[in-house]
Amino acid sequence: MAVLVSGRGSNLQAIIDGIEAGKINGEIVAVISDKKRAYALKRAEGAGIQTIVIEEDSREAFQRALLDCLSAVDPDLILLAGFMRLLSPAIIQSFPGRIMNIHPSLLPSFPGVQAQRQALEYGVKVTGCTVHFVDEGMDTGPIILQEAVPVLEEDDVDSLSARILEVEHRTYVKAIQLFAQGRLEIEGRRVRILPPAPVKEEIV
Ligand code: GRF
Repeated sequence: MAVLVSGRGSNLQAIIDGIEAGKINGEIVAVISDKKRAYALKRAEGAGIQTIVIEEDSREAFQRALLDCLSAVDPDLILLAGFMRLLSPAIIQSFPGRIMNIHPSLLPSFPGVQAQRQALEYGVKVTGCTVHFVDEGMDTGPIILQEAVPVLEEDDVDSLSARILEVEHRTYVKAIQLFAQGRLEIEGRRVRILPPAPVKEEIV
């Protein structure tokens, strides 16, 4: 897996911890950031994972450099974890059905930035998080898993974001493991979750 980050990296940490705990059968081969100061890079270094920073002035140059980098790393799965840019169509077409994102709302409600603030301002009573495959839109790809989080009377953006974040961490780990087990099948807009493979009995 390659993980793309721009900031704090708490989801990256959840993935690293998930791998260590045996909840994900996989390995992170690179953490790629568009910000050299992203705290996520420190987390990756702490876990002994290769880090790559791509800083380019123009959007086109950045997307080209990112595609070159991803092609060289050649991951089975690309994970967006707080990565603050849209991917170019060329990148998306190079990794069909192999790019996932986590978003802090129940999509299609509140796509884009500040989803938790949008939810509070709209006045919904339930929000949550969504893991989805990435297509060319913003937060529009086929949905893999969602988990609901209630909005409490006393919530502000910080308290709501913190409660959603806890749920994000476990939901992302679950979705990644489903992919690792080959249990996700995309059928148009729907993602089917296949049953686990039967455990083979050993013949003695
Ligand atoms: C998370 O809320 C994620 O859903 C959104 O960006 C935030 C990233 O947080 N896409 P972190 O960098 O993983 O801590």
